[in-house]
Amino acid sequence: MLKETINCEFHPTVKKNRYQHMTQVTNRKLNSRFQLLSLFFLILFSTSSYAQDGDPVTGKALFNTNCAACHSLDKKLTGPALRNFETRLSDEQGLDREWIDAWIRNSSAVIKSGDAYAVKIYAEYNNAAMTPMPQLSDEDINNILAYTAQPKAAPQAGGEATTQTDEQSTSGLSNEIILGALAILFMLLAIGLYLVNKTLRRFAAANNVNVPITENRIPLWKAFVKNQFLILVVSIFFLLASAYFAFGYFMQLGVDQGYQPVQPIHFSHKIHTGDNKIDCKYCHSSARVSKTSGIPSLNVCMNCHKSIYEVSPETATAEYSKEFYDGEINRLYAAVGWDDADQRYTGETQPVKWIRVHNLPDFVYYNHSQHVSVAGLECQTCHGPVEEMEEVYQYSPLTMAWCLDCHKKTNVNVQGNEYYAKIHEELSKKYGVDQLSVAQMGGLECGKCHY
Ligand code: HEC
Ligand code: HEC
Ligand code: HEC
Ligand code: HEC
Ligand code: HEC
Ligand code: HEC
Repeated sequence: MLKETINCEFHPTVKKNRYQHMTQVTNRKLNSRFQLLSLFFLILFSTSSYAQDGDPVTGKALFNTNCAACHSLDKKLTGPALRNFETRLSDEQGLDREWIDAWIRNSSAVIKSGDAYAVKIYAEYNNAAMTPMPQLSDEDINNILAYTAQPKAAPQAGGEATTQTDEQSTSGLSNEIILGALAILFMLLAIGLYLVNKTLRRFAAANNVNVPITENRIPLWKAFVKNQFLILVVSIFFLLASAYFAFGYFMQLGVDQGYQPVQPIHFSHKIHTGDNKIDCKYCHSSARVSKTSGIPSLNVCMNCHKSIYEVSPETATAEYSKEFYDGEINRLYAAVGWDDADQRYTGETQPVKWIRVHNLPDFVYYNHSQHVSVAGLECQTCHGPVEEMEEVYQYSPLTMAWCLDCHKKTNVNVQGNEYYAKIHEELSKKYGVDQLSVAQMGGLECGKCHY
């Protein structure tokens, strides 16, 4: 599968670039084969070739390699949308294939020649120059034209997801059927019992058997009130249970382990850091050098998302469709005020209020660089497998016991740290150990963590 969105210059590890490279390599192979093939056809029919003769599949590969950085078929990017441009240019501007060839091979030459349409469109696109591509053969351009002349496919990207939701709704349906059947069964049982009861009574009456009358029995609650032992047992049970739940509740206060708020933009760490291997510090750049890690500003997002305006169909899952993800990218655009159709900022921004997941009380001092840079801890030690999280949640309890526990268990990393060398020497003698734990260095002192 070839991907159409490409080019995130800012981050070399993004898979788009790999795909682009692969297409380039396969293109070369395809090209030479295709040229042989077309030579054969030329000899056979000895007719000149029209766009209709081109191969849309080869054309798509050529398009992705040479044009997709600036053009898409149906959407204005750096350059105009190119679906059916041959027909469009010939119908609306009276431009022929010769013009198209000349334009694609060297557009600035056409502009310099004073060609009216060339000058006009160049100005319309803010004098953005198209890369000259003299290497493209007539056949190559044929293939590109064949690809761009293809009719727009019906949206099928979310197909997979749609079937999934269908499945889900059928399973929901079958659940309802089971519930309904159970309800009917119970009703039949109840009616049956009632009928049996009624017939038995009729039989009894017919045979003159004395049926006990309910009114003569003591009601259940009176029997209960009379039995003091039972009351004692039940009240003890209730007291114990409520104490247990109250204790559990108060122990939970302020501990938000597992907290996973719904964010204003659905930002998937799994897609960004897991699938696309973007380094944590690309976005949380201050974790290394300062007290806080910080949340990246939306400009950081736009480094990539100016050109990544949709996710590939493979990214969609049963739970989240491609439409959903594309919609979230559009929310990002709305927030930064990016008009994707016109490829420009409108200046109308709506700040995104990310909801904080991790939050220590104000009276606690915690420092990221101390743990990430000095201690050399991985983010995942405290934040868990973030690269697998569709949405971030609080992995660790963040209680005082949690901090102290690690400080007791972990040794200080003194290698290559001159500041620690002397303290380490003194303290390790005092404690008689080779390796000092954070606790022995003073990591349990109240003042280190409390203001
Ligand atoms: C570096 C960006 C870039 C690349 C790569 C590029 N184009 Fe363009 N293209 C433009 C821009 C910008 C314009 C608008 C005119 C201008 O500013 O020169 C344009 C205009 C055009 C036009 C004429 C305008 C119209 O009305 O349709 C055609 C045809 C065209 N490009 C085809 C192609 C093809 C085919 C390829 C690939 C073989 C390609 N371009 C590659 C940037 C690019
Ligand atoms: C492409 C940018 C980006 C990358 C890369 C990234 N993050 Fe994030 N991170 C964000 C954004 C945006 C938020 C705020 C939204 C949210 O909480 O989901 C966030 C939130 C978080 C939070 C929760 C912050 C809070 O509110 O308490 C943690 C923890 C986190 N990231 C850890 C990581 C780790 C670990 C990695 C590397 C595996 C990583 N991030 C990579 C952008 C990024
Ligand atoms: C280094 C490049 C890069 C940066 C920076 C980046 N993204 Fe992405 N983003 C991607 C890629 C790649 C995809 C997935 C495209 C695919 O799967 O086809 C993506 C997908 C998305 C999606 C759709 C999937 C999802 O996560 O819901 C959203 C929304 C999104 N990004 C928002 C953001 C936000 C907000 C930021 C800034 C905090 C950001 N991105 C920063 C590269 C980036
Ligand atoms: C020793 C445990 C630990 C390690 C290692 C760690 N964090 Fe944190 N992180 C925390 C704690 C605790 C908080 C809450 C801080 C607060 O509320 O003041 C936090 C908060 C955050 C936040 C929320 C914003 C902020 O700065 O308060 C982000 C984002 C974050 N961490 C990202 C990262 C990244 C990225 C890494 C790896 C480079 C990392 N963390 C390594 C414990 C850790
Ligand atoms: C996964 C282990 C781990 C956890 C969890 C952890 N720390 Fe630490 N912490 C360390 C290590 C290792 C060091 C020693 C760093 C160094 O070499 O200076 C350290 C050092 C410190 C220091 C400096 C101590 C000194 O003697 O100068 C403070 C303050 C601190 N941590 C606070 C906290 C707080 C607050 C928490 C809980 C919110 C916490 N830490 C959770 C591993 C941890
Ligand atoms: C390694 C860091 C660290 C050290 C050392 C530390 N604390 Fe704490 N302490 C915390 C954190 C983190 C919290 C917040 C826990 C929470 O919100 O559940 C806390 C909370 C508290 C609270 C509030 C109790 C509560 O549950 O809200 C008190 C009181 C307290 N600490 C006293 C002390 C005293 C006294 C010492 C010295 C013996 C000490 N702490 C040493 C990290 C530390």
